[in-house]
Amino acid sequence: MGRDVKIAPSILAADFADFGREIQAVEEQGADWIHVDVMDGHFVPNLTFGPALCKAIRPHVKTVMDVHLMISPVEPYIAAYAEAGADIITAHYEATHHPHRTVQAIRAAGCKAGIALNPSTPAESVEYLLDSVDLICVMTVNPGFGGQSFIWSQLQKIEKLKSMIGSRPIYLEIDGGVDTETAASLVEAGANVLVAGSAVFEGGSVQKPAVYGENISAIRNTFEV
Ligand code: DX5
Ligand code: ZN
Repeated sequence: MGRDVKIAPSILAADFADFGREIQAVEEQGADWIHVDVMDGHFVPNLTFGPALCKAIRPHVKTVMDVHLMISPVEPYIAAYAEAGADIITAHYEATHHPHRTVQAIRAAGCKAGIALNPSTPAESVEYLLDSVDLICVMTVNPGFGGQSFIWSQLQKIEKLKSMIGSRPIYLEIDGGVDTETAASLVEAGANVLVAGSAVFEGGSVQKPAVYGENISAIRNTFEV
């Protein structure tokens, strides 16, 4: 049960002055992917990283660089994040008038394509994208900040998406408020990638990396037998 569930720490919760060592530490402590939250201060009320930061951290990411674009427009920036070394680029369904063309552009840039759904966006929205994406990200908080409370109504959306995905090789990623209280229900509902910022980085540091490992194990132990 849940053996192939990936845990993707979000560096939004890491020490912004030390990303290289933070990424190395959290990967050594068991992170499967590194989740990079890109925010433009327009699509979401916060501003974080540009392509230059992704390029700078790429050499430190030994696993998968999972870039979450909370930006609008999206298409003008896809090439820059692809060239910066993103393995996965996830765009928001709500951030583009043409989601199908956007995910095609991500794949054309050589990256795996993800589509993210805000809490009020129904699962059915992606019905005609299922054969064009590699990942569906369900936001379980309103995007823009870490450390927010989990929105439990999204659980039924996750179950619906799991059934829509069927046997397709699509990651079902959950993003926002994932912790030891929520992880087991998410895996039970069908999630196989869990993004966690605060729940992983809380209490640790590059001087105390073992705390990252303890936090990751605590999450994993809630759903792995
Ligand atoms: C929110 C981001 C999330 C967030 C997760 O807009 O997309 O990835 O950083 O942080 P926690 O796990 O603290 O909710
Ligand atoms: Zn995110």
